[in-house]
Amino acid sequence: MSKVKLNLIAAACENMGIGANGTLPWRLKKEMAYFTTMTTKVSSPERVNAVIMGRITWDCIPDKYRPLSNRVNIVMTQQVESLKSKVPEGVIVVPSLDEAIKYIDSRPDIESTWVIGGSSIYQAAMEHPNCGKIYLTEIQKSFDCDTFFPNIDKQQFHLVNEEEIPEERQVEGDISYFFRVYKRL
Ligand SMILES: NC(=O)c1ccc[n+]([C@@H]2O[C@H](COP(=O)([O-])OP(=O)(O)OC[C@H]3O[C@@H](n4cnc5c(N)ncnc54)[C@H](OP(=O)(O)O)[C@@H]3O)[C@@H](O)[C@H]2O)c1
Repeated sequence: MSKVKLNLIAAACENMGIGANGTLPWRLKKEMAYFTTMTTKVSSPERVNAVIMGRITWDCIPDKYRPLSNRVNIVMTQQVESLKSKVPEGVIVVPSLDEAIKYIDSRPDIESTWVIGGSSIYQAAMEHPNCGKIYLTEIQKSFDCDTFFPNIDKQQFHLVNEEEIPEERQVEGDISYFFRVYKRL
């Protein structure tokens, strides 16, 4: 079996919403910086991380931030050939999570793999034998959403403490949130 560990990273509000109208329902600068740091940081400059996302999440990233910098961007779609012709060079287009893992296995320079959404990609990653941890920012407020984080099976995933992740409540404007980590047993 592949050694690739899939880490999920998401921000969800109280009703587990993650998106509305193709965008994020909130604007949290420090939360976004946390996402960037977590998905980018590597142990040595020769290494790089991979981010795996669904085609709609790819479409939702503003042009100026796309592809996500200093990370190998992997996009999942059922229309591989059509999307391949539209994405910039270096972006990997795959028809399944297993194909994404196969690609990552072929790249010894890839250190960590981050699954960055949306819903069905998170679901597939949580059900995958290579799933490791879920880094979930729990926003203490409800927003109107049309896209949701899938149910986390608490029999399988347990809350853990990670040294480098702040445990205390984070506050930005009138919104507070916690950085949580769930690990699959
Ligand atoms: N809060 C957060 O942390 C967070 C994170 C990510 C996204 N979001 C939000 O979530 C929304 C987008 O997420 P979404 O759930 O609607 O869409 P998504 O998961 O990003 O993309 C769905 C698309 O991915 C492809 N896909 C899905 N499962 C696949 C599979 N098993 N094999 C191959 N391709 C597959 C299909 O593309 P084709 O149709 O091309 O075949 C499908 O239409 C946006 O509002 C975004 O802002 C929020």
